Amino acid sequence: MRYPEHVSAGGNAPPADDLTNPFAKDSASIADGSQIFTRMNCDGCHGAGATGWVGPSLVDGRWRYGGSDGSLFQSIFYGRPRGMPAYGGVMSAGAIWRVVSYIRAQPVPSTVPTERWEPPQRP
Ligand code: HEC
Repeated sequence: MRYPEHVSAGGNAPPADDLTNPFAKDSASIADGSQIFTRMNCDGCHGAGATGWVGPSLVDGRWRYGGSDGSLFQSIFYGRPRGMPAYGGVMSAGAIWRVVSYIRAQPVPSTVPTERWEPPQRP
């Protein structure tokens, strides 16, 4: 991605590839991610098991900002405008990737609270 106001080292724009999770999605990292999810109080907004509360469900297979590993990382690192805090300053990249592994490992429940989600209409 290149914007005119970007100053790129050596004149080369960085690659625009999607971020990939550098951690193996093994049971140990998923278990670590589950602990981090609780310890960072993600469950305070997203509910136990990330099934949704004040924040949306992260396990219903539907995504406002994309469900790839890279999109999840960006949601957590930078936050999202309608109430998702940015955790880039308080969590290491490794901790964020482990939480991503945990979220992606959760099965989609057989019933989910809403059938569809639409963004609020802007005037
Ligand atoms: C203060 C409440 C709050 C806390 C704490 C919180 N979230 Fe969120 N989160 C939200 C809200 C609200 C949204 C929806 C934001 C929007 O739609 O712009 C969201 C969105 C997200 C999304 C994007 C979901 C999608 O559909 O694209 C992810 C991923 C996410 N949160 C993960 C986390 C993780 C991981 C943590 C803990 C490190 C966390 N959140 C902590 C409130 C919270």
